Amino acid sequence: ASIDSAHFRWSAPSNIALVKYWGKKEHQIPANPSISFTLNHCKTITELSVKRKESKDTFSFDLLFEGQPKEDFKPKIQKFLERIETYCPFLKEYHLTINTQNTFPHSSGIASSASGMAALAMNFMSLEKTLNPSLSDKYFNQKASFLARLGSGSACRSIKGEVVIWGNHQETNNSSDLFGVEFTSIHENFKNYQDTILLVDKGEKQVSSTVGHDLMHNHPYAAQRFAQAHENLSKMKAILSSGNLDKFIEVVESEALTLHAMMMTSMPYFILMKPNTLEIINRIWKFRKETKTPVCFTLDAGANVHVLYPQNTTEKVLEFIKNELVAYCQNGQYICDQIGTGAKSI
Ligand code: PMV
Repeated sequence: ASIDSAHFRWSAPSNIALVKYWGKKEHQIPANPSISFTLNHCKTITELSVKRKESKDTFSFDLLFEGQPKEDFKPKIQKFLERIETYCPFLKEYHLTINTQNTFPHSSGIASSASGMAALAMNFMSLEKTLNPSLSDKYFNQKASFLARLGSGSACRSIKGEVVIWGNHQETNNSSDLFGVEFTSIHENFKNYQDTILLVDKGEKQVSSTVGHDLMHNHPYAAQRFAQAHENLSKMKAILSSGNLDKFIEVVESEALTLHAMMMTSMPYFILMKPNTLEIINRIWKFRKETKTPVCFTLDAGANVHVLYPQNTTEKVLEFIKNELVAYCQNGQYICDQIGTGAKSI
């Protein structure tokens, strides 16, 4: 099919890794496999309008953030378009207008690259599907994840499924370094699992994740770490299927601290946690010990803390968060989220 103009709109969620991706090879190939919960409320909503143009030599696009021109994100999108050019040659036939917004406050320290790249990839696949209506849903989602990965590695885990695995893993038959795959054998203990994100520090990260990944080359503990991630992924799959919350807590918290330990032991070394991050971790440990509530924390490449807990403990944990943890958040800010299912056409 040939079209002159079209309009698409997708939302895509953020995700939080349980076994962390840290370290990559060329072409956004992960050094180890990872697994994540898809979030529900923290999303990017992206509209794509396309209009056929004369020349097919270069990319042509406008970028809007919440309706306003956003020049400083343009180089990132240009680079993304160049990376996916061979897989999406049709993009050069159109002038693209990309209008994007996030449901979470910007500069909240919540990375919008995963949700943003996933939403954009879904829009590009909608255009491909308009040009070639016979594409299957499986091809659509798999290629969307493949494209999102080329924008930002972890974005490939924000396309489809409540739990997504990315990266070759011997025990996971359908796993791939090139795209995320849905993990569906999930015990009911994890139904509507809660993630309350405590915004500890909203400042710009001192070290980008790109630089962080690079520092895993020649890292003294890299080989051990990658082997551990494979083992922890095996453990995590069994835990998610059996519903063992004690083991879940053990692997999730160990993964979070190991991620930051890799940062502290690279050269140059760096620390992304803040004093309040540690205060929160200690208070979660104390609360868990005293109340036997299966609540735990995880961290991304930043100071914010994700507090994970089963739905049936929501009341108790939210009260604890309000009484004890909000004091350590910047401006008292936190975001209540839970497991979601992936990107949606809206
Ligand atoms: O997708 P990137 O390159 O921004 O890397 C994200 C890495 C972590 O968030 C720290 C871990 C992960 O697996 O999401």
